[in-house]
Amino acid sequence: MGQLIYVFLGFLILTSVSISICNGNSSVACIESEKEALLKFKQGIVDHTNRMATWISDVDCCRWTGIVCDNMTSHVIELHLRSPTFDYYDADEKSKLGGKISPSLLHLKHLSYLDLSNNDFKGIPIPKFFGSFGSLRYLNLSYAKFGGEVPHHLGNLSNLKYLNLHGDKFFRAMYVKNLHWLSSLSSLEHLSLSFVNLSKASNWFPTFSALPSLVELHLSHCQLPPQLHLITSVNLSSLFALSLSGNGLGNLSMMNWVFDLNNLIYLDLSSQISSAIGKMNFAFNLDFSSNSFQGKIPIRCVSYTLESLSLHNCQLYGHLTNKLGNFKNLRKLDLSDNSISGSIPISIGELSSLKALYLLQNNLKGNLPESFGQLVNVEYVDISNNFLEGTLSEAHFFNLTKLSTLYAYGNPLTLDVDPSWIPPFQSHHLCLGYWHLGPQFPHWLSSQTYLRSLDISNSGISSTIPCWFSNFSLQLEYLDLSDNQIHGQIPVIPSFEGPLPWISSFLTLLDLSNNNLSGSLFNFLCSRMDETMEMGFLNLENNFFSGELPNCWTKWPYLEVIVLGDNKFIGKIPNSIGTLQSLRSLHLRKNNFSREIPVSIRNCTALEILDFGENELDGNISSWLGYNLPNLKILSLHSNKFSGHIPKELCALNFLQILDLGHNNLSGSLPRCISNLSAMVYSTNDSFGNNIKYKFGYFIENAFLVMKGQILEYDMTLNLVRILDFSYNSLSGNIPWEITSLHGLQSLNLSHNLLIGRIPSNIGDMIFLESLDLSANKLLGSIPQSMSKLSFLNCLNLSDNQLTRAIPSSTQLQSFDASSYVGNQLCGFPLADNCSEINHVVPSTRNRKGKDMDGLEVSWLFVSMTLGFSVGFWSVLSSLVISRRWRYAYYQYLDEMWWKVNHLCV
Ligand SMILES: *[C@@H]1O[C@H](CO)[C@@H](O)[C@H](O)[C@H]1NC(C)=O
Ligand SMILES: *[C@@H]1O[C@H](CO)[C@@H](O)[C@H](O)[C@H]1NC(C)=O
Ligand SMILES: *[C@@H]1O[C@H](CO)[C@@H](O)[C@H](O)[C@H]1NC(C)=O
Ligand SMILES: *[C@@H]1O[C@H](CO)[C@@H](O)[C@H](O)[C@H]1NC(C)=O
Ligand SMILES: *[C@@H]1O[C@H](CO)[C@@H](O)[C@H](O)[C@H]1NC(C)=O
Ligand SMILES: *[C@@H]1O[C@H](CO)[C@@H](O)[C@H](O)[C@H]1NC(C)=O
Ligand SMILES: *[C@@H]1O[C@H](CO)[C@@H](O)[C@H](O)[C@H]1NC(C)=O
Ligand SMILES: *[C@@H]1O[C@H](CO)[C@@H](O)[C@H](O)[C@H]1NC(C)=O
Repeated sequence: MGQLIYVFLGFLILTSVSISICNGNSSVACIESEKEALLKFKQGIVDHTNRMATWISDVDCCRWTGIVCDNMTSHVIELHLRSPTFDYYDADEKSKLGGKISPSLLHLKHLSYLDLSNNDFKGIPIPKFFGSFGSLRYLNLSYAKFGGEVPHHLGNLSNLKYLNLHGDKFFRAMYVKNLHWLSSLSSLEHLSLSFVNLSKASNWFPTFSALPSLVELHLSHCQLPPQLHLITSVNLSSLFALSLSGNGLGNLSMMNWVFDLNNLIYLDLSSQISSAIGKMNFAFNLDFSSNSFQGKIPIRCVSYTLESLSLHNCQLYGHLTNKLGNFKNLRKLDLSDNSISGSIPISIGELSSLKALYLLQNNLKGNLPESFGQLVNVEYVDISNNFLEGTLSEAHFFNLTKLSTLYAYGNPLTLDVDPSWIPPFQSHHLCLGYWHLGPQFPHWLSSQTYLRSLDISNSGISSTIPCWFSNFSLQLEYLDLSDNQIHGQIPVIPSFEGPLPWISSFLTLLDLSNNNLSGSLFNFLCSRMDETMEMGFLNLENNFFSGELPNCWTKWPYLEVIVLGDNKFIGKIPNSIGTLQSLRSLHLRKNNFSREIPVSIRNCTALEILDFGENELDGNISSWLGYNLPNLKILSLHSNKFSGHIPKELCALNFLQILDLGHNNLSGSLPRCISNLSAMVYSTNDSFGNNIKYKFGYFIENAFLVMKGQILEYDMTLNLVRILDFSYNSLSGNIPWEITSLHGLQSLNLSHNLLIGRIPSNIGDMIFLESLDLSANKLLGSIPQSMSKLSFLNCLNLSDNQLTRAIPSSTQLQSFDASSYVGNQLCGFPLADNCSEINHVVPSTRNRKGKDMDGLEVSWLFVSMTLGFSVGFWSVLSSLVISRRWRYAYYQYLDEMWWKVNHLCV
């Protein structure tokens, strides 16, 4: 799996934050007087963990920890002495610096950056002389446990852009008497005085309002004197973020001026409301009706710096307005995973600094504006999974010379460009699934010689794979051409040594499923046998590949998922599959594989899914399936020619959730140990329908995460489903009562066997059953009363048995139509016979026979529906493993399924 992760590495790199490096490599030696000043400063500092160990006179002070010198003048310009934060409180406390701050620091005349935050100065005041660092631009004294009055001398720092005096929640010792000095800090962009006592600071509002460059203002828990009623207009036109929480400012209706703050993105007014809710740290939902984002923003999820704005997964709705274009400095904009609707505003083209744009997973509609093509700096764009439509032309990409990643999957966009178009970009990752690109293979791709991943699935391509494709296919790590009508054979590259495959050895994912490809896989799988392929995922499902499956799997040792279902393969399943130690999922369904399952498969101990359904396999079901493949979650041998008994060893499969042995020639009895299938004993508590909605949201969030994430998701989906199907065999004997302890089962199908005896009386314990088919057996006795407890039951078929007496009355059981019960001696609604006759109490053999004849009128619609339910379920699940697209299909399918189940069956 490690290999697959690289595919999305680009994404991860872009999301990671930039890390500032404090110790510059200065090629200049430090100035002696400044070194002495620093050594003097060190003498006053209490440093328990010896963080300033490098501060010794033998060493050039520009090399000391926390010191940055100007690389031209060698003056000390930055002092970084913030304490790191540890997980353990003790470590945290110990590493903090304290003591006295020597005025010798004043010798650092060129100091522009001073960070003493997160230390413990035990309540000493902020030194007045800090007001004399004339070059200072950045001053961070937050969480440093200074006390007393904040010196007004700081007002001399006219170059200051960043001032953070954020106090400590538990150590509120700093206060301010008046704030006049602030008004001279005309360059100030960021100011935090949170947890500084401002209760004496009358007329505080005009002071802040007069700071022309202010972008961020934090005044939480400052005991601000309420004077909001005095505020009529504000002039904080550049303000981006404002927090006023925890001040008891009272009536919010007086805060209408907030709506005049046109650029506000972050607003924290929590605990302002004096009622009980106000006590909770609750984030205020504000309607930003005059803002760039029309809609409601639960503020807590906002994170931004001046260059980056992230509102990822904020339950944001509403739409984007043209004011979006105002964020000219924005380099990264992330609005992913919300419910933003409407169209992308034309002003998006004005985001001239933008490098990364994330609009994925929203409800954006309409065209992608042509102005998109003006984003000269954009490198990374992810607009996948919206409802964007319309036609894109060359203009949409005109100036995107730096575009290296375009994820636009899942939008029905049409690309209409000249066949000879050469894009201005050289991309690495293109994910254009669901676009309309066909019918010809898009020729412009041939220019993308640095491409590493390509997804043009479901894009209406109906040609063959062109020769030029090998221009770059040989360097691809990820290739998805699925769901097109591509025909012909998998290409090969002719060479002296014979045909070579047109993929590289480092391709990790290949999906050619749902096309019209044909021919043998021999060249593809077997050429260059000396080379090891890194592929982890191979999907060739639903094509016309034919012949025997070549026995060349030893060169593909990293495969985790193989999907070859729905092709025309014949012959034996090759032995060499047994060498695949990483294999988790093997799908060979719907081919013509024959003979026995090769014993070598017992070596694939990582297998979780084994799908051999709808083939011509025969022999016994081997007991090693039970003890050599302990991780199996799904085992389907459906519709083959297996004979003999169901081996008891299968009961050891603790993780098995789907066991489908239907449509074979199995005989003997159902193993009593079946209650050991513990994964079927437990179930998720949620009702199925609710889960789907939840999962849907969940999956969307993870849609572009690495493969590992997807495997995880698939686990979670599987948690929903538990199915047992032994139908259409010759199983005999009783239904063991032990089966009813499989409380988690959703579908149980034992139909068309030779089962005798009674339906276990506590069948009602299987409360999650949604489908129960016991039809066409020889079951006797009455329908157990407990069955009326099965409130999720959507499909029930008890027809064609020898059941007698009245159908127990319950809303559920009476809601099925008569076809669920025909072919028995049952009476009561929904059957026409209303149980008045005595012979229902003691049914006579004769009568039963007569009824049996009548009972032949089984509802075939119903039977095939039920069958469709589990088979359909099966085929969907089997292909669910990796692909995002499959997940969507799966959910659509489930929705349909539910519709079917609810409307046809009930
Ligand atoms: C500093 O950088 C220069 C050139 O980049 C390099 O030659 C030198 O070794 C570096 N010095 C240290 C101490 O890292
Ligand atoms: C000196 O520092 C400036 C800004 O920090 C940087 O742009 C420049 O490249 C540096 N020069 C050398 C020679 O390292
Ligand atoms: C200021 O210091 C605090 C506490 O160490 C830190 O959380 C914050 O990020 C610093 N500010 C900046 C802009 O680095
Ligand atoms: C602040 O600057 C004024 C002149 O601009 C000066 O007189 C005063 O001494 C300075 N205060 C401090 C603390 O540096
Ligand atoms: C804030 O200052 C005022 C007046 O100096 C005082 O009454 C109040 O107790 C202070 N608040 C805190 C939390 O120390
Ligand atoms: C608001 O600020 C701008 C400059 O930032 C200034 O030109 C304008 O006069 C101010 N308006 C008021 C009412 O203070
Ligand atoms: C493309 O970018 C250039 C340079 O930034 C600019 O002059 C030109 O107008 C842009 N063209 C379009 C169509 O955006
Ligand atoms: C199965 O694995 C064992 C040990 O790992 C090995 O000796 C044996 O040859 C393998 N069998 C097959 C068929 O690969």
